[in-house]
Amino acid sequence: MVNIAVVGTGRIGTHHIGALVDRVKGATVTALVDTDIARAEELARTYSIDCVAASLDEAFEKAAADAVVISSPVVTHLPLIRTAAAAGKAIFTEKPIGKDTAEAREATEVTAQAGVVFQVGFNRRFSESWAVAHENVSKGLVGEVQRYHSITRDPGPYGGNPATTPIGTIFKETLIHDFDTINWFMGDSRPVSVFASADALIRPDAKNDGFLDSAVVVIKYDNGAIATAEASFSAAYGYDLRGEVFGSAGMVQMGEPTNTVARTFTDGGMVVPTEGTDTSRYHESYVAEFDTFCRRVMGEGLPHPSGEDGVMAQAIAEAAQLSTSESRLVRIEEIL
Ligand SMILES: NC(=O)c1ccc[n+]([C@@H]2O[C@H](COP(=O)([O-])OP(=O)(O)OC[C@H]3O[C@@H](n4cnc5c(N)ncnc54)[C@H](O)[C@@H]3O)[C@@H](O)[C@H]2O)c1
Repeated sequence: MVNIAVVGTGRIGTHHIGALVDRVKGATVTALVDTDIARAEELARTYSIDCVAASLDEAFEKAAADAVVISSPVVTHLPLIRTAAAAGKAIFTEKPIGKDTAEAREATEVTAQAGVVFQVGFNRRFSESWAVAHENVSKGLVGEVQRYHSITRDPGPYGGNPATTPIGTIFKETLIHDFDTINWFMGDSRPVSVFASADALIRPDAKNDGFLDSAVVVIKYDNGAIATAEASFSAAYGYDLRGEVFGSAGMVQMGEPTNTVARTFTDGGMVVPTEGTDTSRYHESYVAEFDTFCRRVMGEGLPHPSGEDGVMAQAIAEAAQLSTSESRLVRIEEIL
């Protein structure tokens, strides 16, 4: 049994609390922490959780906790990781680990020094499609990997606010999933350089403020493989996550833009629904990442996205932002 305090009861925190309570064996959510107490109280009532707190320290005083799940905004991650590590708690943090590579590295060091279980929320690794593809690539079924292409397109219409969206969000919050997944598939090969081209194609009115909603990133690895990752904040047809690995002996494709295997044919043609969000389409992957986290807290040694993985993905994101702002190729050693 793992007693968990969840910090952040916003969009993804709400999903995670439900997943932990309803689906993850051995997990017990004992406390909800949010600076918006009313929001945390509402969720606590829904899931019959006794402790609601405005800070992690308060939660540790009031409730039993072996572990912390951090699903609050990125600016809060490092201070929360420091607090949880000092208290000897296992830590799951949503991506990205910190505001920049330096913070990600500090969090990784702090958790290592405290000797606590640490895991980063790169849930795509736990999606069945990517997991099977990864196994097949690791077995050598596609031969030497030469290319990886990765796609993340959020469902439109875009409803965000460019004015409150931090510079580089498309790289640091969105494409960071793609960067981690590509690094994972590349195995021991390391990223050496990044070139990115990005623009405000959905909200051109916000371009002069540095807002970016569409991006393509080229990453070169030290085994010669070339990866590309593209993102859009607004796909008219729905949520679209895909990946493709091309190698000397074949190819594997991951992800499916449709949410059903059923296809409806009428006089208007063929209809395959493409609606959905991360929390609906990728629910099983979030459940699987928390299952791995809880089993690790209970002592099992399982593969997981580590702090070092988070640092590497964050370094690519930072390089992509620098590449865009300076219109040049950025070497990873400039960041790390
Ligand atoms: N893995 C994924 O697929 C995925 C998807 C969405 C979001 N995320 C990540 O999850 C995190 C949260 O994103 P979100 O969209 O749910 O944000 P959100 O703004 O919807 O929710 C954040 C919540 O944290 C609370 N909060 C703010 N400061 C706090 C503090 N100091 N202590 C406690 N609570 C605090 C807010 O009141 C709010 O309830 C981000 O790091 C984001 O990148 C990951």
